[in-house]
Amino acid sequence: MKTFHTVTELRAALKVERLKDKSIIFVPTMGNLHDGHMSLIRRAREEGDIVVSSIFVNPMQFSASEDLERYPKTLEADKEALNANGCDYLFAPDASEMYPDSKQSQTEIEVIGLSDILCGESRPGHFVGVSTVVTKLFNIVQPDCAIFGDKDFQQLKVIENMTRDLSSNVRVIGVETARNDNGLAMSSRNGYLTEEEKHIATAMYQTLLWAKEALITSSASHEDIREQAQQKLEAVGFRRDYFEIRAQNNLQTPSEEEKSLVILAAAYLGSARLIDNVRFELA
Ligand code: PAJ
Repeated sequence: MKTFHTVTELRAALKVERLKDKSIIFVPTMGNLHDGHMSLIRRAREEGDIVVSSIFVNPMQFSASEDLERYPKTLEADKEALNANGCDYLFAPDASEMYPDSKQSQTEIEVIGLSDILCGESRPGHFVGVSTVVTKLFNIVQPDCAIFGDKDFQQLKVIENMTRDLSSNVRVIGVETARNDNGLAMSSRNGYLTEEEKHIATAMYQTLLWAKEALITSSASHEDIREQAQQKLEAVGFRRDYFEIRAQNNLQTPSEEEKSLVILAAAYLGSARLIDNVRFELA
C-alpha cells in the first residue's frame, strides 16, 4: 500500500490507474481503524480494481466543545490493517492540505433538512462538515464508487442525497454494521469507555432490538415505545440524547402505512456519545 499526504501526489498516482482503465473504490475514514472499517475495505476490494482509503480527522465536522483534539490517532496500526485487508492507496492529509487558507472552508455543502434532525440537532453543523469534506474527498479521489457504514445511517443518507442532488457519478454503497460478539457496534468512540461501561454499552443494541420487537408484535404507540426505551437506557446508566422511530428512506416520522422503518438511538455513556440503529420491514 502506498501512502500519500498531498493532493498532488495522490492525483498523479490515481491518474495512472485511470489511464489503465482501473475502477476506483473509495473508503473515507477518520482513522483509529477497527474491524467495522475493515469490513468496508474488504467490500471495496470485491467491488473494483483499486481501493483507496483516507484518514482525515475533519475539524469542520467537530464543534468547539467536541472531541477533535482527543480523537485517537493510530496511523501506523491503521496502515498495517489497511494493507492487510487489501487497500492500495492511503490518503492521509493534514488539515492545512485540506483547508489551505484556514482550518475552515468558505464553501459549504448542506443537504437541507436531513442535516438538522437527529444527530444534526444534537451536533449543529456536523453534517455540513461531513458533506463538505466528503465532496472535497470525492473531487480529489474521483472514485467510481464510495463505501460507507450503515452504523452512521443518517450520514449514509446525507451522502446518498448529496450525490443525487449534485448529479455526482459516485455510486454510494452502504455496508452492514459490524458488531462485537455481545452486539455492541464497533466504534472508535468505544475506546473512551471503561471496561464496565463497555459492558453497559451493549444495552443500546439490546434496547433497539427490544423496540423493534415491540413495534412488530405489540400495539403500543411509537411514543410509548420510545419513552420505555429511553427509560431502559437510563436505568443502566446512559444519559439521553434521542431514540427515534423513522422511515428508512427520508428519516422523517413515518406515516401509518410506512413499512420500511429504522430505529435510531444516540446516548451518552461516561465521556462518550454512542449511536446505533436497526432497520427492518413491517409485514
Ligand atoms: P469514521 O467514523 O472513521 O467512519 C468511517 C466509515 O466507517 C463510515 O462510513 C462509518 O459509517 C463506517 N463505520 C464505522 N463503524 C462501523 C461499524 N461498526 N460497522 C460498519 N461500518 C462502520 O464517518 C466518518 O469517519 C466521517 O464522518 C467521514 C465519512 C470519514 C467524513 O469525515
